[in-house]
Amino acid sequence: QVGHCNGIINSTSSMIPFIPYKRLFKAVKFLPVFLFVYIFLYSSLFRWPDSAGPRFPPQHLANYVCPSSNGGEKYSHFDSFSPNDTALTEPRILLLLENVFSRHGRLITQMLNATKCAYKIETFSKNLPLLTTSTRGRYSTIIIENFNRYVNLPKWNRQLLDKYSQDYKVPIVSFFPGRVQFFSSSKVRGMNLTMWHNQKAFNARFSPSSVIPFIGRPDAVLPFPVSDGREWSLFEESSDYESVLVVEDIEGRRRAAIIRDKGLVDGVEKIVIGHNLSEWMIGLGFIDSLRWSTKSRCGVDSLDRFIQIDIDDVFVGARGTRMIPDDVEALVQSQERLRHSISNFSYLLGYSGAYFLHGDDLEDEGDKKLIETATNFLWFPHMWKHNHAQEYNESFLQSTMRLNKQFAVANNLRVPFEYAISPQHGGVYPVHNALYEAWEKVWGVKVTSTEEYPHFRPWNSRRGFIYRGVKVLPRETCGLYTHTQLFHLYPGGVNKLISLIEGGDLFWTIVLNPMSIFMTHQQNFSHDRLAPYTFDNLISFIQCWTRLRLKWEDPISAAQRYFNLFPMEKNPIWSNPCMDDRHRCILPPSFNCSSLTLPNLLVVGPQKTGTTALSSFLQLHPHVTTNEKMDKSFEEVQFFSGENYGKGLDWYRELFSNGQCSIIMDKSATYFDSEEGPRRAATLIPNTKIVVILHDPILRAYSWYHHLVARNESIVEGLSMDDILDGGTSNAKKIRKRCISGGRYAHHLDRWLEWFPSSQFYLIDGGALRDDPVQVVDHLSRWLHLSPFDFQSSIQFNRKKGFYCKIVSGHPSCLGASKGRSYPPLSPSLSSRLCSIFRDDNIALHKMLLKHNFPVPSWLPSSLDQC
Ligand code: A3P
Repeated sequence: QVGHCNGIINSTSSMIPFIPYKRLFKAVKFLPVFLFVYIFLYSSLFRWPDSAGPRFPPQHLANYVCPSSNGGEKYSHFDSFSPNDTALTEPRILLLLENVFSRHGRLITQMLNATKCAYKIETFSKNLPLLTTSTRGRYSTIIIENFNRYVNLPKWNRQLLDKYSQDYKVPIVSFFPGRVQFFSSSKVRGMNLTMWHNQKAFNARFSPSSVIPFIGRPDAVLPFPVSDGREWSLFEESSDYESVLVVEDIEGRRRAAIIRDKGLVDGVEKIVIGHNLSEWMIGLGFIDSLRWSTKSRCGVDSLDRFIQIDIDDVFVGARGTRMIPDDVEALVQSQERLRHSISNFSYLLGYSGAYFLHGDDLEDEGDKKLIETATNFLWFPHMWKHNHAQEYNESFLQSTMRLNKQFAVANNLRVPFEYAISPQHGGVYPVHNALYEAWEKVWGVKVTSTEEYPHFRPWNSRRGFIYRGVKVLPRETCGLYTHTQLFHLYPGGVNKLISLIEGGDLFWTIVLNPMSIFMTHQQNFSHDRLAPYTFDNLISFIQCWTRLRLKWEDPISAAQRYFNLFPMEKNPIWSNPCMDDRHRCILPPSFNCSSLTLPNLLVVGPQKTGTTALSSFLQLHPHVTTNEKMDKSFEEVQFFSGENYGKGLDWYRELFSNGQCSIIMDKSATYFDSEEGPRRAATLIPNTKIVVILHDPILRAYSWYHHLVARNESIVEGLSMDDILDGGTSNAKKIRKRCISGGRYAHHLDRWLEWFPSSQFYLIDGGALRDDPVQVVDHLSRWLHLSPFDFQSSIQFNRKKGFYCKIVSGHPSCLGASKGRSYPPLSPSLSSRLCSIFRDDNIALHKMLLKHNFPVPSWLPSSLDQC
């Protein structure tokens, strides 16, 4: 019989436990004596007079020493780019991976996420992805995870890719990402380039004569080998290629580890990298290559990096973890040191006044000293009792904030900026309106920061947003939490911290972000003072290996700068807080995850393809429901595509309740061609099913025009459809764009497919919906796993209307006058004009449908034949 704890109960022994009563009785008799001795010894002998435990002097670790000279300081001949350089392509990257699970692919995407480059992932398959849908190339750079795949591409695909690269001046950036079986040296196929695989590399440095290094400091020598393995692929240097990263091989021969092929032979510019991204120096080479290949359209085109270090929880720490006077002194000195490397630098101290003088005697002295030296620092409110904002209403939050404000006044704390931090990020995201309101009223807060948006992990995907006028900036953890106070207790060992600094996450945070707000805690400045150690060394490392200029500016200006750089982040992206463990823990009590109802079916459009008819027919099924009626003027929710998105998640979720229904539908035809729609929908309802109706874009455009005419929209006044296509007046130009853009199905569908797998889509032929809705809805309902339903007897053709209508209580119930209008038929000449307008996109659509195994609508092949 095995016990459920950590032992084995002897199965032969009696089940009644043996109790040594006599010995127990004797022990109890002496209990008062033991207690007395214990209390006496504790209070008089063993208790340290001033603190909760022994306070050892802080331990020191050796600081980082740069092994290199600063020879590259004067280097400045990198390229700058003009708008002409960027006119040919969209500012995004195509990333071709071996497969979706590739480890190296993950490293590449992490880098791209951190730099905020727009990119699209495709895996190698028989067909190359679409490279153009209009006059501009769709990608400004092509990254290929494994250069061998490019070299060995089937001829047809290789020609296509090279032609795209030549025509649109798109460089290829690629890797030899690891050890290669069988080979030691080889010629690269199609290039006059000799290389050696499975090498060790020594003394790596960026070449000062290459145009690529920008952040990487040329001529700063890293004495290798840093890694033991022979994972490098090294290239013979030659005048045909530019050496970007130069190394020595094991025999001391000079080789290149990153080369730039200027495309002199085949017109295809390439940067080939002889290692994967696990080496930080390769990472720097990659980031600089991206800057060059995208012509500064990926990440930040500046060497300035703004750094803010917040010290949270001032006065909050438990006894024994707080700062003593020596620590305060060390903090002042640390700030002085950092000011030599980060111009204008100041620590920002976030205080909770209620816990002032809550330490032991020595720590209370520390508190007093901090107040005496308060003018050395800048302060911000962190909430009076470290309260978790999401748990309180606005009036409570206001009163607690007022107490903290009075504390600042009474103690002469400088709180010069409208900047505040909420303890544990509560109420910032997921948003708790009461916090934003109280902040506004008491402190006039304009800027805050959080590490929770959109999610805590991964660190390189954190973003900012603006809500109720408050600019929320991304906040970086730096591996220092309240409990990290001693080197030898650092989680995972102190080498872990060192590896974060020397080419690890902390290094990359600064390299890849124009501004980094680091979160530390008061406790990290006491005991072994891990925070000053961390930042001193991080700065030394950055200065050694990069040409970055480190700066500090106040949070208000920093926020302004941030959203000027990244205007696309201004609008928040709402996610489902119930799907994130950390978010679930910081939800207001009023948010009940168990009753949260969100749509699981989106009918996304496009407009004028029969979306209303489809939605009304599908709702005949008893297990399908949709949003509650909105105000009369608006039949659709249009949350993901328009201004309603700004109303927030609470507004949207309150429109839906499921009752007994398994399908909760949001039909908004504006979603399909919305730039933001797919991403917003994928963030909130990633598992939703999506219905798209593909109606002939020629008919759709004509219907859309008549829709504007019927609504007496002034913009179309006096304009025929031909006038609009001519684009002679400014109004005509505007409408032409809108009218045509909606029918570029491949362009929009491609964006949706970036965010959702093809298995979640259901495509409907618009012609079939119009002519045989019963069959269409029947098939759709099966795909949705709805129970069988007799649509046949509820949908019938209505001669008067000329369309199918629902039958309600035995009577036809057709859609209103705005659906199924009658207007003159499309003339052949107009039809042929529209046909050629949509030709390219229709070709792209056809390829896309085949690639994803989607059904091809009946109008498409004939349209391709005719145009
Ligand atoms: P027209 O009014 O130009 O004929 P949406 O609902 O997406 O705005 O699409 C409106 C279009 O749906 C109509 O455009 C009409 O052609 C088409 N449609 C398809 N089936 C319909 C139906 N049963 N009743 C009314 N319109 C229908």
